[in-house]
Amino acid sequence: MQTISSELRRRFDNANSVLVLTGAGVSAESGVPTFRGGGNTAVWKGMPFNVISSARMVGRDLPAVWEWFDYRRSLLGTLAPNPAHYEIASWQDRFPDFTLVTQNIDGLHQQAGSKNVIELHGNIWRARCINCHARYDISNGDSRRSECVSCGDRLRPDVVLFGEMLPPGIFEQAADSARDCELCFVVGTSGIVYPAAGLPEIAKAAGAYLCEVNPERTALSGLCHEVLTGQAGEILPMLGH
Ligand code: APR
Repeated sequence: MQTISSELRRRFDNANSVLVLTGAGVSAESGVPTFRGGGNTAVWKGMPFNVISSARMVGRDLPAVWEWFDYRRSLLGTLAPNPAHYEIASWQDRFPDFTLVTQNIDGLHQQAGSKNVIELHGNIWRARCINCHARYDISNGDSRRSECVSCGDRLRPDVVLFGEMLPPGIFEQAADSARDCELCFVVGTSGIVYPAAGLPEIAKAAGAYLCEVNPERTALSGLCHEVLTGQAGEILPMLGH
């Protein structure tokens, strides 16, 4: 059974500025399939997820892209946050300077009560106009609108697809917090997708103490001062209590 070292305990109990970077693994215990290690990987109608979830696909067959995201929303709509999400949400009141950066588009952090989440890859519960970039909340389950109210152009999922850049300014915002944090947790990510995987490197270069939580070794394990091996939903609550 994983234990919390006295070093990490001391740093956790005395920290002012903390950054948490999460990936698909933090939602695995809620039933969300991860993309790579650990859980089952996603394939849609014979197409690997990085094909159906690509910018090229939006250009070629937007209805197919929507079908895939409508399916994922229908799955996600039945799932709930797990103890890892709730523990992380409680940290925003625990630390004077707390930043949560996620690669996840599932909205489970917000559902658990996290505020001001930096969503590097967008959010599946929003749509965006292809032309004027107006954003629409599509979480109410009613029939999803397909045209933009202001310019009439088509809407697409407001998520970062393969082959696309992150939304302007969002990585810089996360990187600024990474430079200022004393303690950086890397939770449930394989650490191979950039620029997100670059954040722990930025934090460490600025003097932060890095702690990974993952049942498997990842591309970032070697960078971390401590690796807590196990499920996020079991390990994170050990820190808060
Ligand atoms: N607790 C903690 N970590 C877990 C758990 C768990 N219960 N279950 C699985 N994991 C770990 C796996 O061992 C793996 O290292 O979560 C990680 C999930 O890795 P990926 O599937 O690669 O997901 P992620 O790192 O978030 O992917 C990054 O790639 O596909 C794109 O845009 C997509 O945001 C995603 C990005």
